[in-house]
Amino acid sequence: MPKSPTASDTTRPSIAHPTPATGPTITHNTPTPGPTAESAAAATASNAARTAPTGSSTGATTPHAGDAAGPDILPSGAGPTGGGSGARRAMVVLAHHRADSLSAHIAARTVDRLTTAGYAIDYLDLYRENFDPRMTVADQPDWDNRDKIYSPETEAHMRRLLAAEVVVVVFPVYWQSVPAILKGWIDNVWNYGFAYGRSKPRLAGKRVLWLGLAGAAADDEIIAGMQQVLEAQLNEGIAYYSGFADSHVGLLPDAEEQPQSIDPEGNLVIGEAISGEARTAHYAAFEAKADGFVDALLTASRVAA
Ligand SMILES: Cc1cc2nc3c(=O)[nH]c(=O)nc-3n(C[C@H](O)[C@H](O)[C@H](O)COP(=O)(O)O)c2cc1C
Repeated sequence: MPKSPTASDTTRPSIAHPTPATGPTITHNTPTPGPTAESAAAATASNAARTAPTGSSTGATTPHAGDAAGPDILPSGAGPTGGGSGARRAMVVLAHHRADSLSAHIAARTVDRLTTAGYAIDYLDLYRENFDPRMTVADQPDWDNRDKIYSPETEAHMRRLLAAEVVVVVFPVYWQSVPAILKGWIDNVWNYGFAYGRSKPRLAGKRVLWLGLAGAAADDEIIAGMQQVLEAQLNEGIAYYSGFADSHVGLLPDAEEQPQSIDPEGNLVIGEAISGEARTAHYAAFEAKADGFVDALLTASRVAA
């Protein structure tokens, strides 16, 4: 079993991710550090917080386009940032409510890496853009009509997805699946008549990488099954069903600082938090693993000369 997903102090450590002192840090273009979901949503409403993470690679070892060159403000309807005209387009989707989460950090590194590789980036932070994951009648006025008109919001998301050649989705694994906000984005945007249900799927040929951060330890026997479940759902059930040419699940276990497992009696066992050099090494390895998944996507997407 995975760790208990409750938010109590005993089952889920407080934010125990990289701190500025020893681990990688992320810096956002927000006026205050570590905005709450509420403040991020409020800022998003004013359009000021449609800000992609920058400076994500502080303390990291991988080359990137430079902190200042991270994707800037992405106002509604604006094109992707970075890359020259004619650059290949990538979409990075983040599904996490905390701007200082490890997931956000990995998303920022991914943006940097793709930017360095020459991609123009469309950064979609579902929380900060205040995405509403609920299915609406407007988006399913007539299930059987694959030519139905979707809501303007959903159509805007469809256009963004259509424009991307490669897509990287970064999320914390929740109950061996994706968080509800990400599921809602898929349900609404990868809709019948758009993503599937046509003789030639509109998304055909695209590549997607699903980067899932998991609290379970890498040596927890639950990880193998988690990989299979996610692959069945995300690769087979969603991406290939929608005509994607390539879909890969990059599972990133050990996302928690305190190793957690369930003993044979069903008790949650929380280990000591790592610190010092062990902590630094832990996050360096974590980042390297994430980078490796992105690099594999870039290699697979390379156009033969
Ligand atoms: C609702 C919920 C469900 C979770 N389910 C799982 C799970 O099934 N397997 C697992 O390994 N970790 C699970 N976790 C732990 C998260 O995956 C982990 O805390 C997260 O990846 C840490 O990264 P973050 O700081 O970006 O949130 C769950 C956490 C929550 C809050």
